[in-house]
Amino acid sequence: MSDTRERLQQLNEQAEKGGGERRIQRQHDAGKMTARERIDLLMDPGTFVELDKLKTHRCTDFGMEDKKIPGDGVVTGYGKVDGRTVYVFAQDFTVFGGSLSGAYAEKICKVMDLATKCGAPVIGLNDSGGARIQEGVQSLAGYADIFHRNVQASGVVPQISAIMGPCAGGAVYSPAITDFIFMVQDTSYMFITGPDVVKTVTSQEVSKQELGGAHVHSEKSGVSHFESANEEECIAQIRELLSFIPSNNAEDPPFVPSQDDPNRRDEKLNSIVPENPSKPYDITEIIETVVDDNHFFEVQSQYAPNIVVGFARLGGHAVGIVGNQPSHLAGCLDIDTSLKGARFVRFCDAFNIPLVTFVDVPGFLPGVDQEYGGIIKHGAKLLYAYSEATVPKITVITRKAYGGAYDVMSSKHIGADINLAYPTAEIAVMGPEGAIDIIFRRELAEADDPAAKKDELVDKYRETFANPFKAAELGYIDEIIEPVDTRPRLIRSLEMLQNKRVDTPPKKHGNIPL
Ligand code: COA
Repeated sequence: MSDTRERLQQLNEQAEKGGGERRIQRQHDAGKMTARERIDLLMDPGTFVELDKLKTHRCTDFGMEDKKIPGDGVVTGYGKVDGRTVYVFAQDFTVFGGSLSGAYAEKICKVMDLATKCGAPVIGLNDSGGARIQEGVQSLAGYADIFHRNVQASGVVPQISAIMGPCAGGAVYSPAITDFIFMVQDTSYMFITGPDVVKTVTSQEVSKQELGGAHVHSEKSGVSHFESANEEECIAQIRELLSFIPSNNAEDPPFVPSQDDPNRRDEKLNSIVPENPSKPYDITEIIETVVDDNHFFEVQSQYAPNIVVGFARLGGHAVGIVGNQPSHLAGCLDIDTSLKGARFVRFCDAFNIPLVTFVDVPGFLPGVDQEYGGIIKHGAKLLYAYSEATVPKITVITRKAYGGAYDVMSSKHIGADINLAYPTAEIAVMGPEGAIDIIFRRELAEADDPAAKKDELVDKYRETFANPFKAAELGYIDEIIEPVDTRPRLIRSLEMLQNKRVDTPPKKHGNIPL
């Protein structure tokens, strides 16, 4: 073998060995895969092409000139998922703790630039000790170069982050800008400042997992969109998410033909919404009954459970589904639901995914915490997101649509294309009890039997307002449908709206209330 070939072989082997056997073993003992193992699992077999495999850092401080590993702690390249091109970078914790150097950042920037130019998703598999301490500001510059690209690529190509180990300090901000964050239980964590700093500053003792583990970010902070039990599950979830979304903002989502009859009418639908308007039910039951193969891929299932968001298909076409969830806080809108809903609606709009909204909302959640927390500006985000969205928008009111929340939840007035209602729909300024207390306060106070008087007035109010007829008379509801007809109606509406085009006034960008 010639010297050059031998050298190439040696360098390739060195790159593939990363930080060496001992560190790879340590990685496995911690329940984690190596960067290359993760990529192999993510990509269709044999499709991964590596770039910059031999790139090394340029640091000469702290003896780093003698410590060079080809690839420098991040494996980058492109390959295919279900036959479609994706770009990937996988941080290799076995090499300098996966810490980010200037050269390492350049590798990531290179795949991001290619992905943005060529219109394909970028998937980042994160497992890193953060900025490479020996490189100082070069490393910080590297992060900022990535952040800037994350922002430029936002809304152009889907960006997905999986957190499969540490992700701390400034390193969190690249994933934070991407569209979806996946986290693995027990082995991953994300925080701005770790437990030691928290203890010094606030005297609070907290473990890494308690501060920024997968469960915390999936349930409490809403930073993470998917939590998985292990890395295999995490990667399977990423592949599934990709199946619903287009490769870029100029494409439509992939069409996946289904054997499920578009005219399927499931009788079960007629009995899911309870007759008693204060009785809860699970909106996912309606969603799952209606969509292709009863498969609903829920996003952020644990965070703000009073709203449900996720992807499904109808007649083979991907849709984004938003639904108020009456089984949690009666489906009220609050700060967290507004943020969750708005972000999801904006993702779908950016990537040409039609929106189907199921409405059963008694209003905004009352409370001092909500007001002090800024429900006004946060609720406005959901309103803004729906109003701004130009993708096909179809709304189904299953039961309550009260007050400002009626307007917000993809009402006709803010640009929904087709608005349907079940016969059980109640569309009014507020629920009967609250309304009667306000408009008949004096009559109730003066009545001989206030309770009986209230019952009588509530019945009258129900008859007048707690139904979909007034809204249908005004054309705010296009059709009152039997629940059993939901699937065929949604599929017909989507077909009809397939070529929807909307021109919006030219502007630099809107000013969504942040
Ligand atoms: N820069 C350079 N090297 C780093 C590094 C960094 N930011 N973070 C970790 N490393 C190296 C360690 O020196 C160690 O090298 P070795 O294998 O040659 O001994 C290796 O990565 C593994 O780190 P170690 O600390 O042994 O792993 P751990 O699993 O016990 O802890 C961390 C992981 C991430 C919690 C810990 O390494 C850490 O706190 N790193 C610094 C995090 C940070 O503050 N980064 C800057 C903020 S952006």
